[in-house]
Amino acid sequence: MQSNNTRVLFGSAAVMPISSHIDPVVARGLLEFCIETGAAEPIGETTVDRFRLHMEQSASASTNSDARPAAESLLQSGQGQVGRADHSTESDPVQYAEQAAASSQNLDELHEAIAGYPFCGLREYARNLVFSDGQRGSQVMIVGEAPGGDEDKQGKPFVGASGRLLDRMFLAIDLKRDSEDLAHSLYITNVIPWRPPGNRNPTTQEVRMMTPFAMRHVELARPKLLVAIGNFSCMVFLGQTGVTRLRGKWLEWRGIPVMPTFHPAYLLRSPTKKSDSWKDMIMIRRRLNSL
Ligand code: URA
Repeated sequence: MQSNNTRVLFGSAAVMPISSHIDPVVARGLLEFCIETGAAEPIGETTVDRFRLHMEQSASASTNSDARPAAESLLQSGQGQVGRADHSTESDPVQYAEQAAASSQNLDELHEAIAGYPFCGLREYARNLVFSDGQRGSQVMIVGEAPGGDEDKQGKPFVGASGRLLDRMFLAIDLKRDSEDLAHSLYITNVIPWRPPGNRNPTTQEVRMMTPFAMRHVELARPKLLVAIGNFSCMVFLGQTGVTRLRGKWLEWRGIPVMPTFHPAYLLRSPTKKSDSWKDMIMIRRRLNSL
């Protein structure tokens, strides 16, 4: 792995020097390691040594007193700036998130507060912050889990294969993310705004950190109905998981009716469950008709 190197670049975070004479078993191990860490796609013809860049940036930041500190040093020093939050509890990531979320008075401020939140390590691996899509002011708001690769690339939630299924499911009950009529449009977000590497599940701590933002998102969007897609969303808004048991019944979060339903990624793997999901869609349509 030293001389005569070809450098293979996967994902946004790493450059991996690999000798052209590398043992195939080692090469396979390296490749699997890249994929496990979420570096699963070649993204360019030329290589970028991000380790060196990072060191250069850190060196220039330390000679520039105005430079914004990196997230890691913010974590250590607790000197981050998030929106107009009061920083008295800044050393606790969850309390910090609660204050930053609570001090956001509208969706743009919330977006800014999330973008400035330094504690969630996922931001270091993601290409984009995925905040929302669809129409603000929609009667129906959907909250999913976390962006995948397509969402990370485009900076919008649910734009990959599961997003296409989600669109078809809601179109069947006359709801569309880009409809200009707010009675027929959707507003969509996720509990986690950055893609977890390798599409792994978010950790409990990542969910705890981002929960105040997800809740504030719903408060500020003020939907008439909330659709909790999959277990992480159920966990945040209903305090419990087990979507198979929860789905098909109206529950409530702070006075807003919540319909838990299967994640479309699960439906793609288990198409026989689509009939249950269709029943949920019908319940949503009926409830909307009665508003
Ligand atoms: N799955 C989710 O939960 N959210 C997305 O945005 C994409 C896939």
